[in-house]
Amino acid sequence: MNLDQLGRRDPEIYGGITLDRLEQRIAEHARELGFEAQFFQTNAEGEYVERLHRLEDIADALILNPGAWTHYSYAIRDALEIAALPAVEVHLSDVQNREPFRRISVISDLCLATVSGQGPDGYRVALERLLQELAA
Ligand code: DQA
Repeated sequence: MNLDQLGRRDPEIYGGITLDRLEQRIAEHARELGFEAQFFQTNAEGEYVERLHRLEDIADALILNPGAWTHYSYAIRDALEIAALPAVEVHLSDVQNREPFRRISVISDLCLATVSGQGPDGYRVALERLLQELAA
């Protein structure tokens, strides 16, 4: 959520990268590791939930950054549990060292790992973690 606004959001926190550029970078890293990446961004919680419901048929694993939903959406948590795929949670910013409400994640215990505060590189770390998982 709100990641379509990257480039307009506080550059001190999120850097200047746009969502298009971020997705290109992730797609390149994914290719290097032998993955084919697909992307989904929405600002509508129901769409996000429904995408998670359908994921099992189209993906082997997922990396998710639900933005502010991370901190309170039990609907997304439940949908992630239903998806039942290996998942890594990523945040561009260092959520542990921002406002207290960002320290809570309602999805992290369903994820193999949480990567935060590494900017766009965090997605590469997440891809590597998934590669390790899928190769095991
Ligand atoms: C974010 C952190 C969230 O707290 C925030 O609401 C976002 C982005 C991140 O990538 O750092 O929208 O998930």
